[in-house]
Amino acid sequence: MQFIDLKSRHQLIGGKINARTQQVMEHGQFILGPEVREVEEKLAQYTGSKHCVTVSSGTDSLLIALMALGIGAGDEVITVPYTWISTAEVISLLGAKPVFVDIRPDTWNMDETLLEVAITEKTKAIMPVSIYGQCPDMDAINEVAKKYNLPVIEDAAQSFGATYKGKKSCNLTTIGSTSFFPSKPLGCYGDGGALFTNNDELAEKFRWIRVHGQVRKHHHPILGINGRMDTLQAAILLEILEVFPDEVQKRENLGQTYSEGLANIEGLETPSIREDNTSVYAQYTILAEQREEMQNYLKEKDIPSVSYYSVPLHLQPVFKNLGHQAGDFSVAEKVANQCLSLPMSPYLTQEDQANVIDAICT
Ligand SMILES: Cc1ncc(COP(=O)(O)O)c(C=O)c1O
Repeated sequence: MQFIDLKSRHQLIGGKINARTQQVMEHGQFILGPEVREVEEKLAQYTGSKHCVTVSSGTDSLLIALMALGIGAGDEVITVPYTWISTAEVISLLGAKPVFVDIRPDTWNMDETLLEVAITEKTKAIMPVSIYGQCPDMDAINEVAKKYNLPVIEDAAQSFGATYKGKKSCNLTTIGSTSFFPSKPLGCYGDGGALFTNNDELAEKFRWIRVHGQVRKHHHPILGINGRMDTLQAAILLEILEVFPDEVQKRENLGQTYSEGLANIEGLETPSIREDNTSVYAQYTILAEQREEMQNYLKEKDIPSVSYYSVPLHLQPVFKNLGHQAGDFSVAEKVANQCLSLPMSPYLTQEDQANVIDAICT
């Protein structure tokens, strides 16, 4: 059994992907070719967002978002300690300070009730993460942001395709940022990412920054990076997008089957999905009090599992300068100590899933 099955989809649509990529090889516009614009239009349409700007990765996407907002030395950006390092890394790369607020014990997303007290005069943005495929309470976060006139960036690297109150992730606030890393819900065949906004000025800045701050040929009024997504990846995404709605449905069904099968087991917590949310289950993650034992036991049965972010960001050596210690963010620490992700992908078979559930239940 594979932890994430990336091969089955290729077996299904590999022929179409080959035909699309062949077209790119023949027209030869490998950088910002027509497929890039085409996929941006489709992605914007899917999320309901006015603009989509594709970029080189989910990390560069966050970096470009912060650069477009003018964030730099001395600024503070509020985010969570339980996430992939990119979220806070980009803040520090720009000389700003990541300010952590703890996560909620139910959804493992930013605890919106702790947000307001973290705001200072230096706060320039709020960056919640839609962890494991589920959005945080964006209305509550947006309300606090509005009160202090702050932009919000949804780090939606794991939640493309999810919904919050019927609206699509990536189109819930000032900026949505996602990743097309292969194992993500909408993954391409290499690195890629995208920015979403309804703000014309921001969208224009994203486009400038992804080509070295170039506004027109050889004219660079602002700093930028080499942040473009390859035309080949855009062509691949165009084909994957055709099957994506079906994959989202499959993910949701698999998530529900896991949660039903693993309900009411002592020492084990299944993910809690808010009533007004749908999750794309980028990972199906449980909390296990005896995590190590469970992981070893699953390994004996040839069932792969992974503990993501088992050291939360405030305890990472690279952020030592922030002066945090164990106990500062107790919910993030508990989740980091107990989280265990089980095999998950739209093509996980019923039989394999039943084996995982049986193994844990017995
Ligand atoms: C929450 C989160 N943010 C950002 C990223 C960065 O995306 P990428 O790997 O495409 O740079 C990831 C992906 O690993 C992620 O999970």
